[in-house]
Amino acid sequence: MGNMKNDKTFVNPSVTSMDQYAPYVDALEELTVKVILSSPTGICSSEIELALDGQPMQALRERVPISTLKNSGAFFTHHTLSDKLIEPIIADIKEGIPVKDPACGTGNLLLACARHLPIMSDINDTVTAWGNQLYGHDIHPEFIRATKIRLLLLAIERGAKGPIPDTDISEFFPHIQESDYLVDPSLSKVNCIVVNPPYSIVQAPAQCSWASGIISNASLFMEKCVTTSDPNTKIVALLPDVLRTGSRYSKWREMISKHAIIESIKIIGQFDKLTDIDVFLLRMTAMALPNKKTNDHWWNLNEKAALPKKVVKDYFNVNVGPVVPHRDPDKGTWYPFIHAKILTPWDTVNIDTKFKKKRYPVTTFKPPFMVVRRTSRPGDKYRATGTIITGKKRVYVENHLIVIKPISGKVSDCKQLLSYLKSDAVNKWLDKRIRCRHLTVGAVKNIPWIKS
Ligand SMILES: C[S@@+](CC[C@H](N)C(=O)[O-])C[C@H]1O[C@@H](n2cnc3c(N)ncnc32)[C@H](O)[C@@H]1O
Repeated sequence: MGNMKNDKTFVNPSVTSMDQYAPYVDALEELTVKVILSSPTGICSSEIELALDGQPMQALRERVPISTLKNSGAFFTHHTLSDKLIEPIIADIKEGIPVKDPACGTGNLLLACARHLPIMSDINDTVTAWGNQLYGHDIHPEFIRATKIRLLLLAIERGAKGPIPDTDISEFFPHIQESDYLVDPSLSKVNCIVVNPPYSIVQAPAQCSWASGIISNASLFMEKCVTTSDPNTKIVALLPDVLRTGSRYSKWREMISKHAIIESIKIIGQFDKLTDIDVFLLRMTAMALPNKKTNDHWWNLNEKAALPKKVVKDYFNVNVGPVVPHRDPDKGTWYPFIHAKILTPWDTVNIDTKFKKKRYPVTTFKPPFMVVRRTSRPGDKYRATGTIITGKKRVYVENHLIVIKPISGKVSDCKQLLSYLKSDAVNKWLDKRIRCRHLTVGAVKNIPWIKS
């Protein structure tokens, strides 16, 4: 089998190197050679199974520092999740529609697709047919090489027979290439896209119309997908949950729904045992013309009919506590200062009694109001743990608290909402609405609630 190490059609010098991964890819190639040369009985099938399953990710974790993986967003999708992701396009794959993974890593999603492709009369025909249908990009040449080797191994494992032509393996699967999708998304146009993009954190480009500062690379990838795909391209994506629910991605959601019809959203939970990030599946179809009616309410997309008539923001003003003690200067008027550690959960406290005074140059709040702790994760006993603040003095509120102030000015409204926040209904709704580790103002504002 030819050497793939020279398959460098694109070089991006800013990319973190995956050199340490090359020896593992060499071992994959040796295994494939062994499989091709040995009689069927001489092959250890468990070795092949591992190479086609989670072994590439395990080898990556063992060889490459976690900081490099995070910079590159190199976390590969396990078998079960890959199968789930491609489910909506299986019929298209079987029909011969070209499929692209714009960030293919070592090919887990392309392998999931290839499991539905036919086996031809020999290996050569099989790999040629698969090569006409499968497209992929990745910035790391080691991953591209691993993807091609694994696809070849899969064809053999699925029963493709015969000798392999004496060609360089880099020539198989010609549409799977080392390239930067964000720079050259239209290297090839296809009708189906499967993607688990890098979740690395990057600076929003200067021309970005929906965000500034630090953002998830996944959001840029999806923008590229919807803005550069042909109309009617089906897109299935596995994305970090913050894109579905985070208030800072609200404009991003609007931008996406301007360019694509959002077909369905499925909450998945934690990506895998070792990667503590919640993800969701997004299925959409690119559109020919921008959609005028956009939607950023992705958390209740599948339940429009059941939308409640009233939500918390109809009765309360909701804000995040503005004080960041180590950052804010010691200036301003002296008032009591509250933070999560000094407040008893589910209690009502009178601010005029025992609270230490501080001064900060930020907004203060006049009781009555309620605060809920922002730190909260799915599965917690209570997702929105609250305390009611009464009294006459204005109050400084720390940044880990969300302030919920009744528009009516009545403590009774706070009491009514506090008891509702303890309920299972709220826990379940928030578990679905926001899977990040912090509650957002947007999530609290939209908790369905009708005051009695
Ligand atoms: C989350 S992994 C997903 C890999 C594979 N699709 C899977 O699901 O197992 C994201 C991949 O994107 C690649 N990547 C990062 N930036 C890229 C870019 N600008 N263009 C193409 N690929 C990129 C990384 O090297 C990594 O392999």
